[in-house]
Amino acid sequence: MPSQQPTENHLNPIIIVGAGHSGVAVAAGLRTRGWDGDILLLEAEKETPYERPPLSKELLKAGAPDESTVLRKEKFYQDKRIGRRAGLAVDAIDPAGRTVQLSDGSRLGYHRLVIATGSRARSLTVPGARLPGVQALRTRDDALELKLALVPGARVAIIGAGYIGLEVAAAASAKGCGVTVLEFQDRVMSRVTSEPVSRFFEQLHEQNGVRFVFGAAVTAIEGVDRAERVVTADGTSYPADVVLAGIGVVPNQELAADAGLLCQDGILVDGHGRTSVPDIYATGDVTRFTSTIDGTSQRLECIQNAMAQADQVAADITGQDAAETEIPWFWTVQHGVRLQTAGVRRADDEVIVRGAPADGKFSVVYLRDGCLAAVDTIAGLADFRPAKKLIAQKARIDPLLAADPGTPLTAAVFAAA
Ligand code: APR
Repeated sequence: MPSQQPTENHLNPIIIVGAGHSGVAVAAGLRTRGWDGDILLLEAEKETPYERPPLSKELLKAGAPDESTVLRKEKFYQDKRIGRRAGLAVDAIDPAGRTVQLSDGSRLGYHRLVIATGSRARSLTVPGARLPGVQALRTRDDALELKLALVPGARVAIIGAGYIGLEVAAAASAKGCGVTVLEFQDRVMSRVTSEPVSRFFEQLHEQNGVRFVFGAAVTAIEGVDRAERVVTADGTSYPADVVLAGIGVVPNQELAADAGLLCQDGILVDGHGRTSVPDIYATGDVTRFTSTIDGTSQRLECIQNAMAQADQVAADITGQDAAETEIPWFWTVQHGVRLQTAGVRRADDEVIVRGAPADGKFSVVYLRDGCLAAVDTIAGLADFRPAKKLIAQKARIDPLLAADPGTPLTAAVFAAA
């Protein structure tokens, strides 16, 4: 690849705000693509950048080493000449002056600015939500705090039956805790999957001792010095030593919005990661953009998107073409059973179950206007790879053939008219 040199403002670095998956990937991608100028990665948290997926899975297990989540070893940053300042937040951006204001009062000039501030756990706002013993799970510190609390016999109340709530429910029940999950909707993972998959995971959890309360509207957390119980609108109290709120995430867009960048539940970016302000990019969970698959506006919470947008940003800064974007995909593991999803399902998609959930291994195919839009695979990945290709091709699928698990997904495609 051609080596790109900074041509203007060359004394200033490319500043990346946020050292999550996407921020670190922009820095790495710039070097891979031949960028020779200075790169500075700013991160409000103090530690070496880490991966998030293990925080609600492996890290909570007894005996898992605490450092197992590090994204890249320190040597990587040294070898690639990626400057890092940890424990330092960016408080403000001045796009006209091309500077950022840091939490220690200093100001730094940038050549290009990349906002990779991600998202934060949505806060529980009911009375008592700030009592000790009530927490969210988003950072490594959150995970380590939770891990200490998950001791045998502990009563764990989990608010929200999404990925986070359910992964923690699995870890907590495996450690001998008594787990109650309070979910507002009438089934688990309703945001991301269909009824058959929800029911399968609900049963799996129940077989492992997890108790569910659906239609639960939490009205308060009560306790004297710390959380002792969760109260719902019907007046029921659920005793709890630990309360985990896993009620979704919100984008960390305030820094961008305050600087005048267009935001709408996410910083608006184009297909190159460019924001509405020149020389400022955004990438990862914090962005909202138009899907190249179906033209809808979306904010994706997944590593695939974090990496794809990081590549788009690094490519644009170095004047190169980005790699082709993969279909978004997501995964969760609960009680050792993996749910892996390709594509983004919608509530009004046609739902076709391939195989019998009772066998513990099946897929669910989602059709939109007769075309493959998404696939969930449960405890088996045979349909996953072909699904990604077929979704990208918007392949028309024969619903009868797709319902037969003995027919490969690729053989369920209608021949072109
Ligand atoms: N009381 C009970 N349940 C609630 C409440 C509430 N006040 N508010 C929201 N919920 C439920 C929602 O109905 C949903 O089922 O909480 C669940 C949140 O699920 P997700 O949106 O999947 O969010 P979460 O599990 O927190 O995961 C957030 O973290 O795993 C990563 O990136 C991944 O997108 C995921 C993100």
